[in-house]
Amino acid sequence: MKKLYIETYGCQMNVNDTEVVFSIMAKHGYERTEDISEADVIMANTCSIRDNAEQRIWGRIDYFNTFRKAKPELVVGILGCMAERLKDALLDTGKVNVVAGPDAYRSLPTLLEAVQEGHPQINVELSREETYGDISPVRIDRNGVSAFISIMRGCNNVCSYCVVPYTRGAERSRDYHTIVREACECVEKGYKEVTLLGQNVDSYKYEDVNFAGLLAMVAQISPELRVRFSTSHPKDISDEVIDTMAAWPNICHHIHLPVQSGNDRILEKMRRRYTREWYLERVARIRQAMPDCGITTDAIVGFCSETEEEFRDTLSIFEEVGYDAAFMFNYSERPGTLASRNYPDDIPLEVKTRRLNELIALQNSLSLESNRRDVGKTFEVLVEGPSKKDPSELCGRTGSNKMCVWKDSQHKAGDYTTVRVLDCTSATLLCELA
Ligand code: 5AD
Ligand code: SF4
Repeated sequence: MKKLYIETYGCQMNVNDTEVVFSIMAKHGYERTEDISEADVIMANTCSIRDNAEQRIWGRIDYFNTFRKAKPELVVGILGCMAERLKDALLDTGKVNVVAGPDAYRSLPTLLEAVQEGHPQINVELSREETYGDISPVRIDRNGVSAFISIMRGCNNVCSYCVVPYTRGAERSRDYHTIVREACECVEKGYKEVTLLGQNVDSYKYEDVNFAGLLAMVAQISPELRVRFSTSHPKDISDEVIDTMAAWPNICHHIHLPVQSGNDRILEKMRRRYTREWYLERVARIRQAMPDCGITTDAIVGFCSETEEEFRDTLSIFEEVGYDAAFMFNYSERPGTLASRNYPDDIPLEVKTRRLNELIALQNSLSLESNRRDVGKTFEVLVEGPSKKDPSELCGRTGSNKMCVWKDSQHKAGDYTTVRVLDCTSATLLCELA
């Protein structure tokens, strides 16, 4: 057996893709190693979403190459979004032997064979059909409690700032039979939670099954199985999805609903195809059906031509919604996107960073407020394992996706238990067994 080491960057989708790659490679004589120094093949599954994500990978490529001294036949591979975006430019550095885009993983064993004969190999073909539907991923580095299941690939939205439609190609939904089968396998292996993944899960459609239908099918597998999903697009999240979430006790009440901006002119320029008013109506609809639903978001500050006043609209929508948590970013121009072709990246870095810090400070206080509202309440949590800070404590999440820690010697990873919130930080609920 040869030894394969893979580092994964970017989104949860990439984590699941790495699991698919391990599964494909296992059938061709490669076993997984977590020790880079013993690897015959070192790969990075990469992300292109922002420039700093790519910069990090360049550093890793140099690092991987330091292992060639001891092992001249070492193979270095780049997978994922950066492979798709940069293509031959990666091979031209002379530091990379294999480049494979997100739809090319079935060809990896062949590519590696050819590399062994001394020629660098590349496959960055995008597909309209590939979903890896028949492949059972080899689950990695997680707790044995919670598994990712990809339900679709690619994206058809073409938000003007976003590189994903170019790196992951057109949207396609996976056959629901294979999704349900994979979720059943997870249950048999002892998993207690699955997260259904897609760039835009609300547009899932396979034959006559839409996302609400799929959610119900997966929820039906076992009342002991928690069902989560990510990511929803505000323009597409339907009443049917919201009502399905409310109807099934094992579908977690958490929606990640990226707002990106609170200003209509900027939303239009971003090509998000909803307005502030539309977004707030969706939030109201969610809260009406599920008052306890966790709502989290993504936002970009300093998008092309964003004025101070327009940025204030992002602050105000954060306050209006009162998000439980958020991921916030400086706008990073991505070559080839509509925004890069049509609008100058004209907000100075200092201004972006000042706005970003202001938004982060606001979100920290909103997270704290949200957590304070939970003090005194009890929640069912799924135990994920010992807490990182204090091994005498366990950690686990509420349905709304808040992290809890509590002293406990009775339970173990995969158990459900009930905790009472005693106190909190902006990131964690500090609890006791109820
Ligand atoms: N610059 C900054 N942030 C971006 N995102 C996507 N593209 C960019 C970009 N060019 C953010 C969005 C998205 C999250 C995954 O990354 O907020 O929801
Ligand atoms: Fe990064 Fe987006 Fe690709 Fe995920 S899909 S790896 S977030 S660029």
